[in-house]
Amino acid sequence: MSYIRWTTSALLGALVLACFAQAPAKKGQAAVSKKDYGKTAGGAAVDLYTLTTAAGMKAEIITYGGALVSLTAPDKSGSYGDVILGMDNIKGYETPVPYFGALIGRYGNRIGKAQFALDGKTYKLPANDGPNTLHGGIKGFDKRIWSAKPGTGASLELTYVSKDGEEGFPGTLSAKVVYTLTDKNELTIDYTATTDKSTVVNLTNHAYFNLAGPGEGTILGHEVMINADRFTPVDATLIPTGELKAVKGTPFDFTKSTAIGARIDHADEQLKFGKGYDHNWVLNRSGGALSKAAEVREPKTGRVMEVWTTEPGLQFYTGNFLDGSLKGKGKTFQHRGAFCMETQHYPDSPNKPNFPSTTLKPGQTYKTSTVYRFSAK
Ligand code: BGC
Repeated sequence: MSYIRWTTSALLGALVLACFAQAPAKKGQAAVSKKDYGKTAGGAAVDLYTLTTAAGMKAEIITYGGALVSLTAPDKSGSYGDVILGMDNIKGYETPVPYFGALIGRYGNRIGKAQFALDGKTYKLPANDGPNTLHGGIKGFDKRIWSAKPGTGASLELTYVSKDGEEGFPGTLSAKVVYTLTDKNELTIDYTATTDKSTVVNLTNHAYFNLAGPGEGTILGHEVMINADRFTPVDATLIPTGELKAVKGTPFDFTKSTAIGARIDHADEQLKFGKGYDHNWVLNRSGGALSKAAEVREPKTGRVMEVWTTEPGLQFYTGNFLDGSLKGKGKTFQHRGAFCMETQHYPDSPNKPNFPSTTLKPGQTYKTSTVYRFSAK
């Protein structure tokens, strides 16, 4: 009898404790939890947030670079598995890594010859990719600590204020990014920004996907459709020439679903420049609403990822610079072991008057959204 009373009160106590502990998500309920992710080499504290949906989809995000550390998606048997590359700790992210899962800014992709002119003034940026500036410079948004605030449901709001002159860019830029997991197995990323001086902005996320799982072979068998009749060919330093070239009759035609590996090694000058696909596609779209940019299917798991965006461009990069030297999640990240679909404005827009503008002026709000929607078939 006393044994029963003791166990009942122990059970009750455990229950009360469980309710007040910081919410490890209960199945059937959207939740956000937070834990310590250690400190950067410079001593800054980093947190890891876990978003979980009622259906069981999960995303882990760190405040360092606002990076997605893991993201799960269902396969054809209904079981959720991680679909992105990532490291195991903050030291791993500071190695540094090529932007794994990170938020990219202030200007995602390349700016030619590390400079641009705006309102009659020339701004010089650090060159960190040959003669060009890549992904916001030496210390872009991917290497900054973002402030985080859980939102409603499975969502997280991240903010970062980039000072006037940071990495050579004019104007104090207040950036906000909201990651949300929905009950439809979607990851939505909403980006907003304002400035106090004219500047250029191009924000994106740099998740490296392998729908078979991180480190599970190459992505050459993934089948890709990109809703684009044109792309922006590049010079040998991967800066667009300014031309919007038809994909028809080239290895860049993904208007019909095609395996990534089917033409990646064709003798094509553009493929040689990129060492594979590392180009911006000009999305077919009308107006600024969310529209479908791409769909990718991995045949073994049946996992499908659709990309929807309000952006005019999509950088499709096939992990050509991965070389097996980076390891994480107990795996080795081999050459072409992942692909990225970075929704964005076109590279080098600040120097290309014929491209959609990336200028943001005081009083305006930069606002874009991208959805990665997962299913299986
Ligand atoms: C670029 C690649 C680059 C990669 C990682 C991509 O967005 O287009 O050229 O190697 O990011 O650095």
